[in-house]
Amino acid sequence: MTPQRTLVFATNNEHKLREIRAIAPEMHILSLADIQCHADIPETASTFQGNALLKARYVKQHYGYDCFADDSGLMVDALHGAPGVHSARYAGEGHDGDANTALLLRNMHDVADRSARFVTVIALIDSEGEHLFEGSIEGSILTAPRGDGGFGYDPVFIPQGYTESFAEMSSEQKNRISHRAIATEHLLHYLSNHFTSQCK
Ligand code: IMP
Repeated sequence: MTPQRTLVFATNNEHKLREIRAIAPEMHILSLADIQCHADIPETASTFQGNALLKARYVKQHYGYDCFADDSGLMVDALHGAPGVHSARYAGEGHDGDANTALLLRNMHDVADRSARFVTVIALIDSEGEHLFEGSIEGSILTAPRGDGGFGYDPVFIPQGYTESFAEMSSEQKNRISHRAIATEHLLHYLSNHFTSQCK
């Protein structure tokens, strides 16, 4: 029997865990809770790459596991890349996706250039070192929310070449084309090529 490779995914987001476990059933993926890590890992870097690396390094250093971590956000051209790494807390600590989206629309009320992209960076640390995998999807920001699905900024983001917002798509459709799906695909491609050499 092929031994399963154990990797920690530095998250407690059940949705993300389910998604990656479904995509890569040959891997044994542990969450932060599974390794009894209850720390509030700092995300103080100014880039997605920096924040993903901070989280992965924390787990490797404190728990010894090979680990990957992700960081994502929305970058709006007319706002010089904002909300960027501040996407989750754009409207302030304790605010949710609706408040963040409302603030984004207010800040863009007179903006003609609506171009934007979602970006995900995954940092993996294994015995060979640190690796970064990126995914992005281009699109534009609506002037009012549309759709009930998804989360965060999904109701105001229309991917290029589509007429529906992310929140109007089924989760299957969004997960086929999203920034997260693209970055995860790169991660899985790397892991499948290195799978046999690094079973824990
Ligand atoms: P995280 O790093 O994946 O937790 O994402 C940080 C923040 O970026 C989220 O809280 C959302 O505000 C935003 N975000 C990231 N990915 C998406 C997405 O697929 N749809 C909508 N918002 C997203």
